[in-house]
Amino acid sequence: MTSQVRGAQLARLLGQWHALPGRRRSPDYAALAGAVRGLLADGRLPLGVRLPAERELAEALKISRTTVTAAYRELRESGHLASRRGAGSWTMLPGTHRVASTGLWTPLDDRDMIDLGVAALAAPPELLPAARAAAEDLPRYLGGAGYHPTGIIELREAVAQAYTERGLPTSPDQIMVTNGTQHALDLVLRLSLAPGGNVLVEAPSYPNALAALAARRARITTHGLAVNEPGWDADLLLGSLRQARPKLAYLIPDFQNPTGHLMPASLRERVVGTAHAVGTDLVVDESFVDLPLDGTVLPPPTASFDRHSRVVTIGGMSKPFWGGLRIGWVRASAPQVQRLAAIRVGVDMASPVLDQLVAVHLLADAPAIVAARQAQLTAQRDALLAALAQRLPEWRVTVPHGGVTLWAELDGPISSALARASEEVGVRLAPGPRFGLDGTLERFLRLPFTLPAADLVEAVGRIAAVRYDLDRGGRPQWREPAVIA
Ligand SMILES: Cc1ncc(COP(=O)(O)O)c(C=O)c1O
Repeated sequence: MTSQVRGAQLARLLGQWHALPGRRRSPDYAALAGAVRGLLADGRLPLGVRLPAERELAEALKISRTTVTAAYRELRESGHLASRRGAGSWTMLPGTHRVASTGLWTPLDDRDMIDLGVAALAAPPELLPAARAAAEDLPRYLGGAGYHPTGIIELREAVAQAYTERGLPTSPDQIMVTNGTQHALDLVLRLSLAPGGNVLVEAPSYPNALAALAARRARITTHGLAVNEPGWDADLLLGSLRQARPKLAYLIPDFQNPTGHLMPASLRERVVGTAHAVGTDLVVDESFVDLPLDGTVLPPPTASFDRHSRVVTIGGMSKPFWGGLRIGWVRASAPQVQRLAAIRVGVDMASPVLDQLVAVHLLADAPAIVAARQAQLTAQRDALLAALAQRLPEWRVTVPHGGVTLWAELDGPISSALARASEEVGVRLAPGPRFGLDGTLERFLRLPFTLPAADLVEAVGRIAAVRYDLDRGGRPQWREPAVIA
């Protein structure tokens, strides 16, 4: 199914297209075509959508129809638009270049490599005592078979209590413990998405979620996020839901990966209401919800606006505590949890009891552990921002007030080339296109601030050095893409 962007919507996305930086004496049609190409390259205008009829866009932009006709002709010639008489014009990218969003994993092979592909912290000092305490608890479980498809009751109680304290009353039978948030997403997709189902995601979005969707052969519609706060355009997002009527939407409203954006309460409420009206299930990924920075006050949980069991929330221990624990969860209605557990026995039966006990101990100590993480992340973020301002002042960054990543807008469509060049000097990067579909987002780069400040500063220095080499025509060797998380 092709979705359509209306004249007024495209006009809004185009914004000040006639006054874009770099425009000199180019005619209006060329400036308009350039602005549309820019939206496509940034993933803000999805591929495969039908553009408004020439007359409609001319009216919306208050320009002559001949200007729009000439702009569309130029877009066709440059390979950004396909037209068929009587059927309209669709967006595309030139050639057949596509970047797969398979989220390839390769082992961390090089000890000197500064790995900015993974957005996760090392374990907190409290982990070892929690593991020892968990071992002491284990005898309580050794008399049973050890299979708990929805998770051990102690952990489900602790997770349910944390939701209740956030203003979302939750009982333990609404929680299913999983082996990480990624596993939670996969199980939810198995339950609620038939192969080939239509799914709405943000662009950019988390690569391994795109991989999970690809595994379900999902047909993906994207909502392009703006670089600036709040990121989501309410009318466009709700319009996409109404138009595409996807079976499911996967959103990261709390410090979105990779942009760090925080969805305001009013939009959460409207998204949930619209999703229900059009029959879309919402999967809300709260991976970063525990990590607001700068005293940012969190809006109510997205699921708190849900009256019809439309929202399934997933989250886990990886970002506030440690990814190596492999503990995540699903919050859904009790019957949905039972259905998920029934699916799960065909996948992995249950999560390890010992690791769940470690999670119980860490959650009991959560306020102190999380406060230390927030202080650490704030200092590291600020060191990264300062290094970028000093070494790569042409790059534009929106300061994230939570989460663990920032989304830098580069000074050209160089992200993949920069990642390849950086690998040569010992910095592993996750280039922009890994966060989108079809090779868009080349002007962007995700930078996590999960490593120590000294490593971040060193990495920025090395990136800056190869950035300027790119201009001098240095051609780095191709290397396989690596871990992104
Ligand atoms: C948005 C998002 N969802 C899910 C995950 C995967 O988390 P886990 O390690 O809990 O499987 C990540 C990890 O980076 C993430 O950023």
